Amino acid sequence: MEFNPPAGAVSTDPLPFDPAAVDTPALVIDEAAILDAAERFAALAHGVGCQALYSLKALVIPGILERLRSPLDGFSASSEFEARLAREILGTRGLLQFVSPGLSGRNAGVIADLCDQVSFNSLPQWRRLGQVIGRSAACGLRLNPGVSFVGESRYDPCRPGSKLGIPLDQFPRSGLQGLGLHLHNNCESTRIGDLFDTLVHVQEARPDLLADASWINLGGGYLFNEAEDAERLDEAVALLGAAGRPVFLEPGAGLVQSAGFLVTSVTDCFPSSEQRVAVLDTTVNHLPEVLEYQYQPEIAGVEPGALKQTLAGASCLAGDQFGAYGLAAPLAPGDRLVLLDAGSYSFVKSHMFNGINLPTLYALTPGGHIEERRRFGYSDFLQRCGGQPDAR
Ligand SMILES: Cc1ncc(COP(=O)(O)O)c(C=O)c1O
Repeated sequence: MEFNPPAGAVSTDPLPFDPAAVDTPALVIDEAAILDAAERFAALAHGVGCQALYSLKALVIPGILERLRSPLDGFSASSEFEARLAREILGTRGLLQFVSPGLSGRNAGVIADLCDQVSFNSLPQWRRLGQVIGRSAACGLRLNPGVSFVGESRYDPCRPGSKLGIPLDQFPRSGLQGLGLHLHNNCESTRIGDLFDTLVHVQEARPDLLADASWINLGGGYLFNEAEDAERLDEAVALLGAAGRPVFLEPGAGLVQSAGFLVTSVTDCFPSSEQRVAVLDTTVNHLPEVLEYQYQPEIAGVEPGALKQTLAGASCLAGDQFGAYGLAAPLAPGDRLVLLDAGSYSFVKSHMFNGINLPTLYALTPGGHIEERRRFGYSDFLQRCGGQPDAR
């Protein structure tokens, strides 16, 4: 059947490793690519007088965090567990920031002990926990600037009725002495001009906020290394007039997204309603944003062409599909495919729905070797279900 491949993109760029070298499903993390991204980001941030943090939420693997520690100034965390791990990796040498709607009386004491700066997500959170946090960490407030750039509302921190940050028109006018300011209102943007426009908006509405904050975290949400207007970062930071005050950037995806490869094998193929379906040994639950946001991953390892083939996940869910791709030849059981840009928000969000095992985690080391880092199995499944493998 003729098909103009409009849907999923098929990359013909060479892969940095041999997909045949791993057991599938596998998540291969290119450590050299992450280190390179971190070094380039740190150079950009430091060049404009900012400190460079990595937001753990995008990908949490201790070995990767160890590698990120040196080029960066620290990490940012959004839960007690992330904060604990970040502090274990950083020791006393790096800075740790925290912001989360989930900061509560249950975890505030631990978070205060672990973190250097904590931003409160709401005014009530600040009122309830300001004293506890303030005993050992510097406090800040998260501002919701009310400027949206993201078309998809589930990604938009400034969507109507947002739970993220204190809206500009509700931000207190007094009692802000000594507090920091946090804002984050974008997602995978390559336009630093968005950040500039956000700061102009805040400055016009409340010039005191940018002028008086004792430190400012401008958030993540930018693919800084791929920015089409990186020079505007200098302009944006200059707007803060921030001489002498720390300014932070905290991307997640920007440092790890393109360094992750989900390698999968075809297990079955059959026609269905004039389409060819290829079932894979992975599932969208290894890349949950495919289903959450109807995003279609770019694939590699196969020749692009005019033959339409639907790639489907292994679970019972009808919508467990990666979408249609135009390939040169029909897929057959045993063929291998590589799903690209699987480094961010994949491993941290994957789960074992249907009892399907998680991908084996491999590192592509800076020396070019594939090393297995973690193989999951029945005992992981059983423990999560509340079972005790040793008792069997
Ligand atoms: C407060 C905050 N900072 C940083 C990030 C990292 O964003 P990204 O991975 O898009 O760079 C997020 C993502 O949700 C966030 O909510």
